Amino acid sequence: MTLISSVASGKIILTGEYAVVFGYPGIATPVSCATIISYTNSKEPLTITFRGIKPTERGEEYVRRVVELCEKEARKTFGGSLIIDNSIPLGKGMGSSTALVISVCRTLLGTDCEEAAKRIEDTVNPGNSGLDFAVIWRNEPVFFKKSTDPKSITLPNDLLTGAVLIDSGTPGETTPELVAWMKTREAEVHDALAQIGSCTERLAADGDLATIVREHHQAQLKLGVVTPRAGSLIANIQAAGGAAKVLGAGARTGGGGMILALGCDPKVIARISAEALFPCFPL
Ligand code: MEV
Repeated sequence: MTLISSVASGKIILTGEYAVVFGYPGIATPVSCATIISYTNSKEPLTITFRGIKPTERGEEYVRRVVELCEKEARKTFGGSLIIDNSIPLGKGMGSSTALVISVCRTLLGTDCEEAAKRIEDTVNPGNSGLDFAVIWRNEPVFFKKSTDPKSITLPNDLLTGAVLIDSGTPGETTPELVAWMKTREAEVHDALAQIGSCTERLAADGDLATIVREHHQAQLKLGVVTPRAGSLIANIQAAGGAAKVLGAGARTGGGGMILALGCDPKVIARISAEALFPCFPL
């Protein structure tokens, strides 16, 4: 019996949601929550145990599908015990589904499995741009543009000092569903996508993050992926002098996903938001 352990971090997209799907650039950074896997192989049928933030039944099915795809890639069956200890908020724009793919692939296929892991990511998360995969696989901040090699980017050390994450609930749609919907609206949302692309260019050129985040949020509103509740929370944060944006795909219905808020005292944000706040630590 051999014990294998792998880890993949969560991520936040500073700029670029949806725009990256259409070829505009985006910037993302890994953050200090992670999926940690411990696997002990044996001839017994595979058991999967969840610890930490546990998935729903649909999430458990997703994990089993990733394992099956690893078995296809490896042309063998994996037995033994797979323990998944997760601290990435699930389905809220922080990269939990891609971190799961990467950590399971590294565990079962070995650390040198980038191409196989990408194939699996494309199967279970159809329509993805590759940004989540790039930042989580490399575990460093990236400047990403589809069809070109992701570039490492050095962000100022204090860029996210005082930033907090607000959990505004689980979106009613999955990221692949929202991306598929956005692809049907490319002409209609063209200007908003270009505006998001220009936010990335300005951040790469050391622009002021709070100013950029305010404009980015306006573009996400035009995309239709900010729920009314998330929108009014962000408006209140802006009125108090701060800036905020939804992370990841956002939502059309249900909860609004995770919101990144910065640019004013976290205590002020805590007073505005009735939700739990999490500190945001880049790696
Ligand atoms: C999801 O984290 C970000 C999106 O831009 C989709 C993608 O890049 O694959 C909405």
